[in-house]
Amino acid sequence: MKPVSKFVLNILKENKKELIIITTIATIGSLIAVSIPYLYGKIFDLALIPQTTISLLFSLIFLWAILGLISNYTSNKTAYRGEILGVKVGLEEECKSYGHFLSLPISFHKSKKKGEVLNKLSRASWTLAYFCETLSGVFPQFLILIFAIIIMLIVQWQLALILIFSFLIYAFVIVKLMGPILKAQDKTQLVYEREYGNIYDKLYNVFLIKNFAMEDKEKINIHHSLISKTLPYERRSAKKWNNLSIYQGIIYNLSFVILLSLAIFFFRKGDLTAGQFIMFFGYINLCFGPFFRLTEMYRLYKKSSIAIKRFTTLKQKVPEAMKHGNKILENLKGKINFENITFGYSKDKAVLDNLNLEINSGESVAIVGRSGVGKTTLIELIMGYYQPDNGRILFDGVDISKLELKWLREQMAIVSQDISLFHDTVLNNLKYANPKATNIEIVAATKAASAHDFIMELPKKYSTIVGEKGVKLSVGQRQRLALAMAFLKKPKILILDEPTAALDAESEKKVKEGIQKLIRGRTTLIIAHRFSTVKNADKIIVLNKGKIVEVGNHRELIAKRGLYHKFYTLQVGLD
Ligand SMILES: Nc1ncnc2c1ncn2[C@@H]1O[C@H](COP(=O)(O)OP(=O)(O)OP(=O)(O)O)[C@@H](O)[C@H]1O
Ligand SMILES: [Mg+2]
Repeated sequence: MKPVSKFVLNILKENKKELIIITTIATIGSLIAVSIPYLYGKIFDLALIPQTTISLLFSLIFLWAILGLISNYTSNKTAYRGEILGVKVGLEEECKSYGHFLSLPISFHKSKKKGEVLNKLSRASWTLAYFCETLSGVFPQFLILIFAIIIMLIVQWQLALILIFSFLIYAFVIVKLMGPILKAQDKTQLVYEREYGNIYDKLYNVFLIKNFAMEDKEKINIHHSLISKTLPYERRSAKKWNNLSIYQGIIYNLSFVILLSLAIFFFRKGDLTAGQFIMFFGYINLCFGPFFRLTEMYRLYKKSSIAIKRFTTLKQKVPEAMKHGNKILENLKGKINFENITFGYSKDKAVLDNLNLEINSGESVAIVGRSGVGKTTLIELIMGYYQPDNGRILFDGVDISKLELKWLREQMAIVSQDISLFHDTVLNNLKYANPKATNIEIVAATKAASAHDFIMELPKKYSTIVGEKGVKLSVGQRQRLALAMAFLKKPKILILDEPTAALDAESEKKVKEGIQKLIRGRTTLIIAHRFSTVKNADKIIVLNKGKIVEVGNHRELIAKRGLYHKFYTLQVGLD
């Protein structure tokens, strides 16, 4: 089965109960709607007969009014419930997609423009909502059409056949013209997604734009993106739509004229009573409504297929957890082994090349090397963000691919180079690391990370909002908050990627004391360009050209007079 049909069937299955209710109400409504033209045709015929009593006529008119009211009520009820169902299904799919989006690997997030994906999903959600809303009205519309045609065939089959024939021509034209329209709309959609991707990228990087005073140029770019790029596509698909509407109008009017002429002819011949004449045109009107709606449904189905494909393509991307196992180690000691690890972001360039490394449990290991050598990459492999191209990473002797990623990351805390926080209070950000932490524990953690004093100086202390990504804090303050979060998490494995890079000498001294406390009893990996941070590590490894070229403690490596010695003397010289 095609993914789109499968998707629609799934929606039908998941909302069976509500759909049955809507369809039942709507079916009652359509049966009533079909009986109305018949009734007023009869009233008209009876009115022409002198013997008909006024009371009978008024009773029938009263019945007609009641049926009209019920029909009105049911159609409003169907529309209301259909709308709610549509919105619910659209939002549910959007939620599932966001959830799935979060579970996709880092490599996906690093390579995609977020704005493009988000725009794609919210547009798809609305199309889907509209589609489901219309879907709930299909069955009754179809019933009205069938019943009305059957009654017309009984009353005057020649006229009914002409009506059916005009419907067929109408449907043929729609199917023929819809293809190019949808293609044009799909193209328009893609252009929107791409352009919104670009615009969001600009909005995310507003500081970069301001730094280079490019606001005016970007305003022009945004205008160009949204107007100049998309309008021609909009125009093209609108033109195609317009053509379709013209053909629809021609067919409708032509068939109406033919039907009217023939009806007059049959009326004159005496094959059609005046009441039947009126009844017939009542049915023609009744039929065209559902028929238009069914064609609209067809158009929507085609259009939603594109939206649904967007959801399904995203869903087909495998969440990272699936590539891993579900093993949990009861008492993780924190021993990490790299066995012949080769890894590159692209196939032709290895960042790490056949690397072997042993980190014992509770050991602190510093990683040193030139910028861009692959230090952060090594850490991202430990976090399970990427799969090595070759070799194995072991935790307490167990291959990472067998471990449950969620559990593994719960055992680690990282203070990364690029610290980001939620647009929330200091306290809530801290609690994110450990929701169960008490206020006493939180203050102990911020004190250990030298963060407490600056937090107390913020306008609302722990209740201060830190701004999007934490922009209202200085980089050093953010770094200290991240350290406090690492303290709160009480991890088995601690990873510090340049933890003191943004600090002044005084704060660095304090934070280093905090770090020394945090390191105790934990496997720790520290990346630092500053040797004051590196010196105390149990083991220092020097990375160069994808390989470990030196291993030892500070004293040993200095004595070796190799690369480490060179970096060190360069920095000491600089200092
Ligand atoms: N997502 C990515 N896609 C492609 N290449 C990447 C990606 N991330 C990093 N690289 C490349 O991999 C190499 C190693 O990067 P990495 O971030 O590990 O360096 P680093 O040693 O941490 O440097 P620094 O000291 O500057 O932080 C660099 O050449 C970088 O350009
Ligand atoms: Mg790095």
